[in-house]
Amino acid sequence: MQKFAVFVSGNGSNLQAIMDAVKAKKIKAELALVFCDNHKAYALKRAKAAGIKTLVLEKKNYATPQSYDRDIVISLKREEIDFVVLAGYMKLLTPYFIKKYPQQILNVHPSLLPSFKGRKGIKDAFTYGVKVTGVTIHIVDDKMDHGPIIMQEGFKIPPNDTLEVLEKRIHALEHKMYPKAIQLFVDGRVKIRGRKVKILEKDKG
Ligand code: GRF
Repeated sequence: MQKFAVFVSGNGSNLQAIMDAVKAKKIKAELALVFCDNHKAYALKRAKAAGIKTLVLEKKNYATPQSYDRDIVISLKREEIDFVVLAGYMKLLTPYFIKKYPQQILNVHPSLLPSFKGRKGIKDAFTYGVKVTGVTIHIVDDKMDHGPIIMQEGFKIPPNDTLEVLEKRIHALEHKMYPKAIQLFVDGRVKIRGRKVKILEKDKG
């Protein structure tokens, strides 16, 4: 069975959805490690409650982003991690890291990329006044919120939505989509050709 790590920085609601999906065998891979860059993150409590191994390394203890990522990679290789799932991880991965897991890192972003990249995707879309927004799941490359798109789903924003309500809608959609995208990836159905991702038919055999 493939092994994967989830990277978190904060609340960890996507981590929770992923852990629930692993438990329900909707994701058929082993969640072997939760990595966190912040020892105060609530996500760590969730991981511990589920009995998943955690690792916390804080960037302030490292001289350079690359030395930080090098230590993370050493731990991942020790755990024989096959692929990495970013779920609200607020640090940019270095090119060094990305080369160690080429096309083996997934990310969820709370807008319809390429619109509203960055840390405040939901708020930025809301403030801009877009009528349609959504969620993007993509492969991570060396530019922020940029790699080939695996899955994207949008919806019309009801006119009376507050930012708080919209955030809830986005998170609920993320929790539905991300486990599905991860399982497609585990099944080898995500075929990447340049920027285009083709989802292969389910093997009927
Ligand atoms: C999510 O909206 C995700 O798209 C973004 O950060 C947020 C993390 O939320 N990258 P949580 O920690 O999974 O609750």
